Amino acid sequence: MFFSGKFVLLCTYLLLETCITAYKPVVIIHGVLAGNSTMSLMAEHIQQVHPGTKVYATDKFGGWSSLAPMWHQIQDMGEDLMKISAAHPEGINLIGYSQGGLIARGILEQFPNHNVDTFISLSSPQAGQYGTKFLHLFFPGLVCRTAYELFYSDIGQHTSVGNYWNDPHHQYLYRNYSRFLPYINNEIVSSQSNSYKDGITRLHKLILIGGPDDGVITPWQSSHFGYFDENEQVVEMRNRKAYVLDKFGLKTLDKKMRLKLIELNGVSHKDWHTNITVIDKYIMPFLK
Ligand SMILES: *[C@@H]1O[C@H](CO)[C@@H](O)[C@H](O)[C@H]1NC(C)=O
Ligand SMILES: *[C@@H]1O[C@H](CO)[C@@H](O)[C@H](O)[C@H]1NC(C)=O
Ligand SMILES: *[C@@H]1O[C@H](CO)[C@@H](O)[C@H](O)[C@H]1NC(C)=O
Repeated sequence: MFFSGKFVLLCTYLLLETCITAYKPVVIIHGVLAGNSTMSLMAEHIQQVHPGTKVYATDKFGGWSSLAPMWHQIQDMGEDLMKISAAHPEGINLIGYSQGGLIARGILEQFPNHNVDTFISLSSPQAGQYGTKFLHLFFPGLVCRTAYELFYSDIGQHTSVGNYWNDPHHQYLYRNYSRFLPYINNEIVSSQSNSYKDGITRLHKLILIGGPDDGVITPWQSSHFGYFDENEQVVEMRNRKAYVLDKFGLKTLDKKMRLKLIELNGVSHKDWHTNITVIDKYIMPFLK
């Protein structure tokens, strides 16, 4: 009798404990040319610090297949995310690293009924990309200045990189050819524009992490939705048209204190997702 009573008490205690510390599941999307094994350190660390957290690091589109068109990746991974959403009506959190953060944003817009609470974009080219170092990861022969000739074509649009290549000197061609970035930014109005915006404003928190020592995302401010003007001068997010006109919800989130920009020095692009300081200080506090 004594033992069973104590046992029941213990179980109740454990159950309560689980209820109280139930963290929302976390979905993680890896970067370009990488698979989900590159995210295992982060996944394990989250589970260590927040025991019991379910972490889903997608194994889709690893390696070279990460160069598949953005919409294709978004549709496929988005369907998976919606299944996870459905299994967790209490809400989920989403982390995307590098290109994975742009895919994640695409998913939020394309599936506006998601139940993502917090989205953390870790050094992702949210406003596009225009830089040699990034280009040479996949296309060593291409020159930044002339890459648009390839990317702004039907063939070039069959690559993820072409989908978010944003050449400040060829904006007309960008708008004419890019099938992805000008749409999710609502620079081109489509029948989807309203639901794209809904998908972003539904977020409880949007955390944008990036920094000047990134070395790959160009300009690095693209991780904060800043971008080059036609003179390659960086315009900060809050001065850009997309924000001022609240094209897809950034301003709405900002006014409600739900948008946070985090700028960190001393982190190069390849290190964000494995830097324990970054994870502990700037990611964990938002995973509730
Ligand atoms: C990577 O994907 C595989 C297959 O789905 C899965 O078993 C593994 O747990 C994933 N890795 C991480 C770190 O989540
Ligand atoms: C814009 O794209 C269309 C087809 O995609 C093409 O016919 C037209 O010539 C392009 N315009 C310019 C200026 O490239
Ligand atoms: C890790 O991040 C901190 C900033 O949060 C930075 O000072 C440090 O240099 C980084 N270390 C590496 C190896 O990236």
